[in-house]
Amino acid sequence: MVLISIYAISAILFTSALAEASIRYMPFGASIVQATCWRAYLWQHLQSTNYTNIDFVGSLSSSTQCGSPAINYDRDHEGHSGYLAIDIADKGLLPGWLESSPAKIITMHLGTNDIREGYGTKAILAAYSTLIDQMRASNADMKIIVAQIIPLPANDSAVVDLNAGIPAWAASKNSSVSPIWVVDQYTGFLSSDLRDDGIHPNDSGDHKMEAKWYTAMLQAIGSLG
Ligand SMILES: *[C@@H]1O[C@H](CO)[C@@H](O)[C@H](O)[C@H]1NC(C)=O
Ligand SMILES: *[C@@H]1O[C@H](CO)[C@@H](O)[C@H](O)[C@H]1NC(C)=O
Ligand SMILES: *[C@@H]1O[C@H](CO)[C@@H](O)[C@H](O)[C@H]1NC(C)=O
Ligand SMILES: *[C@@H]1O[C@H](CO)[C@@H](O)[C@H](O)[C@H]1NC(C)=O
Repeated sequence: MVLISIYAISAILFTSALAEASIRYMPFGASIVQATCWRAYLWQHLQSTNYTNIDFVGSLSSSTQCGSPAINYDRDHEGHSGYLAIDIADKGLLPGWLESSPAKIITMHLGTNDIREGYGTKAILAAYSTLIDQMRASNADMKIIVAQIIPLPANDSAVVDLNAGIPAWAASKNSSVSPIWVVDQYTGFLSSDLRDDGIHPNDSGDHKMEAKWYTAMLQAIGSLG
C-alpha cells in the first residue's frame, strides 16, 4: 500500500513537471542587472503568483543577498558590471552568452555606462540594433523586453534623450514572432530610489524596477502560448 502510494505520488509530480516545461529567461545588462536585487524580487513575485517554471539563465550567478529574510532565488543572469552596450555589440559577446545559455525571453537594461563615457543616443541605439539581431540569430522567436533606463542624475539629459529615442527605434525593429516591448524604468523613479553612488537602485528602486519588469514578463510569458 505504502509503496503504491509513493509511486502514485511520484507519477503525479513527474506529470506536472512535464506539463510545466521551464521557460528560460535571461536578465541582460550591466551592473544595474548584476549588482542589484530586482532579479530576486522578480523571481519571488513570479513564484508567489504561480509562475514557478521560469528558469533565470546566464553565465553569471550573483552572490548578492536580497530581502529579509534573504530570498533563495534563481541567481543566474547576464549582467556585466561596467560594460557598455557598444562594447558588447562591437566585441560580439552576446552570441556566445546566448549559445551557453539559450533563452526564450530576454530583458535588457543597458547604456548607462555608454552615457557615462560620453556616447550619445545614436551610437547606443546602433549597438542595441546589433544586439537585437544577435538575440534573433540565437532564437528567431526571442521575446525581447527593453528598458528605457533609470535616471542617472550626473548625465540626466543624455538619459532623457536616449529614452526618448527608444520607442521609435523599438517599433522599427519590431516583429510579430519576436516582439520588442519597451518598459519605462525612468518614469516614477526618483533620485531617492538611487544609492548614494547616484547610479544604482537602492532597495526602493529595486522594488520599482521589479514591478515594471513583472508586468512586461507576464506579457512575454503570455505570448509564448
Ligand atoms: C496559486 O496557486 C494556489 C494553488 O492552486 C492558489 O491557491 C493560489 O490562489 C494561486 N495564487 C495566485 C496568485 O494565482
Ligand atoms: C556624462 O558625464 C560625464 C562626466 O561629467 C561626461 O564625461 C560625459 O561626457 C557625460 N555623458 C554625456 C553623454 O554627455
Ligand atoms: C511590437 O509588437 C507587439 C505585438 O506583436 C506589441 O505588443 C508591441 O507593443 C510592439 N512594440 C513596439 C515597440 O511597438
Ligand atoms: C534609498 O536611498 C535614499 C537615499 O539616496 C534614502 O533616502 C531612502 O530611504 C532609501 N530607500 C530605501 C528603501 O533603501
